[in-house]
Amino acid sequence: MTDSQHLYEGKAKILYRTEDPEILLAYFKDDATAFNAQKRGTISGKGEINCGISSQLFSLLAAQGIQTHYLDRPTPNSMRIRALQILPVEVILRNIAAGSLCKQTGLPLGMKLDQPLVEYCYKNDALGDPLLTRDRLLLLELATPDQLEEIRRLSLQINSYLSKFFASCGLTLVDFKLEFGLDKQQQLLLADEISPDTCRLWDNSTTDPNQRVMDKDRFRQDLPNVEAAYQQVLQRVLATTRCAAPLDFSDTVGDAGVK
Ligand code: TMP
Ligand code: ASP
Repeated sequence: MTDSQHLYEGKAKILYRTEDPEILLAYFKDDATAFNAQKRGTISGKGEINCGISSQLFSLLAAQGIQTHYLDRPTPNSMRIRALQILPVEVILRNIAAGSLCKQTGLPLGMKLDQPLVEYCYKNDALGDPLLTRDRLLLLELATPDQLEEIRRLSLQINSYLSKFFASCGLTLVDFKLEFGLDKQQQLLLADEISPDTCRLWDNSTTDPNQRVMDKDRFRQDLPNVEAAYQQVLQRVLATTRCAAPLDFSDTVGDAGVK
């Protein structure tokens, strides 16, 4: 790609323009950051792994009728995506207490939540991506009330599908982050990525609190074998996707969360 095509560089991806103004190329980097980029490093092979996992998951969601920005994956590290106006909101879905939920509420790590919890953060590095109330989100006009309702409905539906899918991979989807954007017709589409950078995934084959971590918490907490964990998630996602009997999502309902 040329300098003139370079549009934006984030912490984990670079966006490039293509000949079609409605299509961008997202290049996934091996760079890793945590704690609002106070910790920086490299996870070797991460770009290719996260691009591969995200492509599979976006395709899985598209097959269930969830519209996403994903088009295809021309190289192992890059995906072609629809150009969207990204809403500056990080949507966090939680099934099990971990991370900032434990830190901010005192809930014990690993406590199963009765129903999935939907949270919103202001996507603003200068402010440290603070947690938002619904009223603050509307006050800042980060989304309209209708868009917020649709984001909540879609996020719960996505959580249902992904929780079931990862369970088939022998992984528990503890929590994850989503981003949404609007296309020219003001339609809301799922954007960004879904990968071990943006999800907490615990290996169901162990209860050891360090062993079970299969996501960026290994990097955040300086645990060993970060690359191997990411690679293992990719292998399981591919194996489950290729498995002869497709997953049956008919008992998976959106607004009621995980059945
Ligand atoms: P948290 O517990 O730190 O709030 O994180 C919740 C989920 O969101 C977790 O799966 C990691 C993901 N996440 C991101 O994808 N980007 C971020 O900047 C942060 C803070 C969390
Ligand atoms: N993605 C965020 C950062 O790099 C935080 C995190 O994932 O922990 O700063």
